[in-house]
Amino acid sequence: MNTSTSTGVTVRVPAKVNVQLAVGAARPDGFHDLANVFLAVSLFDEVTATPADSLTVSCTGPDADQVPLDRTNLAAKAAEILAARHGISPSVHLHIAKNIPVAGGMAGGSADGAAALLACDALWGLDTPRAELLDICAELGSDVPFSLVGGAALGTGRGELLTPVEAGAFHWVFAVADGGLSTPAVFREFDRLAETEGREIPEPQASPELLAALASGDPDALAGVLANDLQPAALSLRPSLAATLDAGVEAGALAALVSGSGPTTAFLVRDPESALKVAAALEASGTCRTTRVASAPAPGAVVLA
Ligand code: C5P
Repeated sequence: MNTSTSTGVTVRVPAKVNVQLAVGAARPDGFHDLANVFLAVSLFDEVTATPADSLTVSCTGPDADQVPLDRTNLAAKAAEILAARHGISPSVHLHIAKNIPVAGGMAGGSADGAAALLACDALWGLDTPRAELLDICAELGSDVPFSLVGGAALGTGRGELLTPVEAGAFHWVFAVADGGLSTPAVFREFDRLAETEGREIPEPQASPELLAALASGDPDALAGVLANDLQPAALSLRPSLAATLDAGVEAGALAALVSGSGPTTAFLVRDPESALKVAAALEASGTCRTTRVASAPAPGAVVLA
């Protein structure tokens, strides 16, 4: 059945934070094996697909000027791959309403790829099986499958092989830094630091303590076990992030860490009231550009009615 519509399809998609990011040694293909515990948080982008003569992308939002509008945008790539698989032309306009920090370590670009894929699939009435959508997501990037599924999941391989995990409710504050950090550059710095320090890099393993704390919904337990192996590399490339992490902890956050490859920093807090207090203190500290408050786990990419 063809359920395509000429009015457009909008998909809402969450950002993520990594509550554990264990990174292995560089593989021959340049990627790193990971034990990556993803948690989707309630900061959302929306991608709207409407019929058009050719593939075009537009973007609005506070950081829209930093978003590429050409075929390097993962939303455009998603439309191209899906259309090619079905032997049709990617004639679609993709509008991104951007709220997730750009190049921030919160998978904003990946989120737009997953959202565009789902939006085009619905617009074109393709009904692509979920397994095939996940396959296209993995082709788009290591974090894209998680953007589609949301919730909480352990990502292995380069992060694309997902196993859902249990998560209680948690509250977070995110401090958005000036400018982005390049994910490949942070992984390269991780390799460089390990080599300089003559450190053996162990096989990445999901921490049983972390998975138990995540399932428990106890913020004090989770605060004690948050871990990001990319944090020293992100701090090495952006030393000013240390002051942001300190400012959040001083303001009462239970724990602070760099989100993914950064430079966004993430603060676990006890409840929504402390989230507002920590966000206000971070903004007043002058150590970040702006803040966002969010809760987790958030659902994955979903077509809005
Ligand atoms: O998969 P994605 O395109 O998002 O990865 C971007 C870059 O991040 C890769 O080209 C690689 O340099 C680095 N990366 C990595 N190991 C991973 C995921 C990403 O080295 N597991």
